[in-house]
Amino acid sequence: MKKLLTIFFAGFLSFTTMANENLYPLITNVPNRDVTSLNGDWDYIVDRYEVGYYDYRLKPSQWGFFKDQKPKSETDLVEYSFEASDKMFIPRDWNSSDEKLYFYEGTVWFRRAFEFSPKQDERYFLYFGAVNYEALVYLNGEYIGSHKGGFTPFNFDVTDKLKEGENFVVVKVDNTRHKDEVPTVNTDWWNYGGITRDVLIIEEAETFVRDFSISLSEDTYTEISGWVQLDGENPQTSVKVSIPELKKEVSVTPDENGRGAFSISAKPELWSPENPKLYEISLSVAGKTMNEQIAFRHVDTRGNEILVNDKPVYLSGICIHEEAPFRGGRFNSAAEAHTLLSWAKEMNANFVRLAHYPHNEYMVREAEKMGILLWSEIPVYWTISFTNEETLQNAKNQLEEMITRDKNRGAVIIWSLANETPVSDVRNHFLTQLVEHARSIDDSRLISMAMEKEYHDAYTPAINDPLMGLVDVVSFNSYIGWYDGLPEKCSKMNWELPVNKPVIISEFGGGAKQGHHGTKNQIWTEEFQEELYIQSVAMFEKMNLAGTCPWILMDFRSPRRLLPGIQDGWNRKGLISNDGIKKKAFFIMKDWYELKN
Ligand code: GCU
Repeated sequence: MKKLLTIFFAGFLSFTTMANENLYPLITNVPNRDVTSLNGDWDYIVDRYEVGYYDYRLKPSQWGFFKDQKPKSETDLVEYSFEASDKMFIPRDWNSSDEKLYFYEGTVWFRRAFEFSPKQDERYFLYFGAVNYEALVYLNGEYIGSHKGGFTPFNFDVTDKLKEGENFVVVKVDNTRHKDEVPTVNTDWWNYGGITRDVLIIEEAETFVRDFSISLSEDTYTEISGWVQLDGENPQTSVKVSIPELKKEVSVTPDENGRGAFSISAKPELWSPENPKLYEISLSVAGKTMNEQIAFRHVDTRGNEILVNDKPVYLSGICIHEEAPFRGGRFNSAAEAHTLLSWAKEMNANFVRLAHYPHNEYMVREAEKMGILLWSEIPVYWTISFTNEETLQNAKNQLEEMITRDKNRGAVIIWSLANETPVSDVRNHFLTQLVEHARSIDDSRLISMAMEKEYHDAYTPAINDPLMGLVDVVSFNSYIGWYDGLPEKCSKMNWELPVNKPVIISEFGGGAKQGHHGTKNQIWTEEFQEELYIQSVAMFEKMNLAGTCPWILMDFRSPRRLLPGIQDGWNRKGLISNDGIKKKAFFIMKDWYELKN
């Protein structure tokens, strides 16, 4: 019996890779650092049975694909070859890169060989913008570490692992969905797997600014403050923070942990949607300077209003998935971000809900340059395993990585912690811990989530999510006229909204196949969708809302949307088709928002 148990236990262990092993504290402001890009063609091997990781007894093999073995003689048995395998441009999801992998969920191995010449006394970090979903990372055949979570960055210290000349990095990527992961198994978006964002080697001096925060001080417009976090052998090296355009400069002496706070008396021009003013900031330490571009603004609430720089702002919003315009798949470029955000601006939107996970950093920085306020969220979506401690830790990790990366992005005004999670005591406890964790990391932004509602009767919704007291902005999704009745039902609704907090509709809308026309009573026609939007905005006009976010800017792939000839694997609630063609409802929102702003 004992032997049997031992085999079982060993087998069980081999299935559970640790989450987030050997991660180095996240390095921020990566777009402004010295990097060597490993983007480009990577070899890849589709490994459905994970033979590149486990031996035939399902134990981790020491001779897995990460060794990148090559036959040493004519009789050498090696049953794989990266060099002889197909190539894929990275960063890119595999589903939209290789039609054989359109539906694939499982493990794919990626390899990138590269020449490198490490400099004496410099430090090197291997950085991934995101990998969906679990990444096991190896450098020159040696295990470096692992990360779980498909939409946030992570990095490893590889200073002592890079060689002069030829190096190779191997990544085992597994996008298999599991009940206890974040997100769980059911989502209304395509499970695009792969190395979907940049892969970089960050080069830094022995002691460098790993992280920092800089913003207007609380409750004032005449002081800028923040902190720097040094990393290295000399943590108390002086750091110079300067804002040339304001002719301001301050010297910071960090403590023994490398942490140093600063404040600067200054009255910067404020960032706002109307005036997206950015300041060049430079941080210098030991003769090396790094720049950053900062938006100085305040965001707050007052009663049921949202304030930007103490002025009430109506959030003329739109939801956006990280789906590439025209080609589909995940995108990771400023150009594609600009295309989507330009469509949002064309709609007279001043606010974007980045659904349902942290988007790539290009999207966040492009929105900031364009004067678009942002809602950023973690994929705690629908029926998460709220009783599982590892699931909570995973959600906290992803929350921390999202906030750490974007805490200096003035455009981000709302951190969202969940979407449409079914109310229960365990869900309330899980989300309460997430709210507390978010506020412990960043108490300067507004907290929200797409919350639940009940109905007194068919026409009288009650916004009564037990967590309303915890958030700064009460948000909920409403599909009156689509999932709940027909468009004319909008005119019969009696909404009772909480009066002491801002309320935004974080989703609403309905589907239409672009180019499919008929009467406004025919579902899936552009005319039906247009009527739904006409009725929806008329209903919103009677409500005291702080914002609205149509679901969604552009059609996106979803495994839940299977109606032939209409959906074909796409969610058609977009106001624009995935081919970039605007539907009639787009112009209803454009005209309405023009009035609202
Ligand atoms: C839900 C959910 C979205 C989904 C949408 C829909 O509210 O939050 O992720 O895509 O409805 O049904 O299209």
